[in-house]
Amino acid sequence: MLKVLNHPLINHKLTTMRKIETGTKDFRENLDEIAGLMAYEITRNLETEDIEITTPICKTIGKQLTKKIVLVPILRAGLGMVDGIRELIPTAKIGHVGLYRNEETLRPCEYYAKFPLELSSATVFILDPMLATGGSASAAISLVKNHGATDIKLICLVGVQQGIDKVQKDHPDVDIYLAAKDEKLNDIGYIVPGLGDAGDRLFGTK
Ligand code: PRP
Ligand code: URA
Repeated sequence: MLKVLNHPLINHKLTTMRKIETGTKDFRENLDEIAGLMAYEITRNLETEDIEITTPICKTIGKQLTKKIVLVPILRAGLGMVDGIRELIPTAKIGHVGLYRNEETLRPCEYYAKFPLELSSATVFILDPMLATGGSASAAISLVKNHGATDIKLICLVGVQQGIDKVQKDHPDVDIYLAAKDEKLNDIGYIVPGLGDAGDRLFGTK
């Protein structure tokens, strides 16, 4: 399943992020806010279960989330989406996957992976602003699956068809959520129009 959220507030903030003149502070703040807005939409259909509680007035049946949530940002740029989602789901545990793209082959190289124990029973949100060739997202999904995850959602800001196709082919069971679907990749693997190198813009490294 692919869902492009296409929400007015998200689109407004994403436009700020796309602008070349937007600096690190505004880039980071908008990424954080968009991640929160996306999470609000994406969690709409999470499973809940009934729980008996007592209000100051009487006993009643309330609802609680059935499954734990684990957030797995793909380093580095995915880190910029964690805080915005954690504001909504403060009990979420965090795993980390370190991947970088080889600049020539565009293939992902893994350098770090660490996950909470709950991975196999949780709903896992893989976070990365950019879905370009799809190599990084697909590799991250394989990693969490190898550690037992079965209920996985991929949350990206901007994606293109090539990346969507790659993830859907490798992992047809994983739902993909995008803020926007862009036109294409350029000849060095960057999303067009995109927003440039998300990690560098987030951390001010170029
Ligand atoms: C960027 C981005 C994704 C990846 C997407 O990370 O944050 O992880 O590229 O490209 P793909 O779909 O073709 O795999 P990058 O490798 O630049 O690492 P960084 O976040 O550390 O800068
Ligand atoms: N990674 C990025 O950071 N930006 C792109 O456009 C493609 C991959």
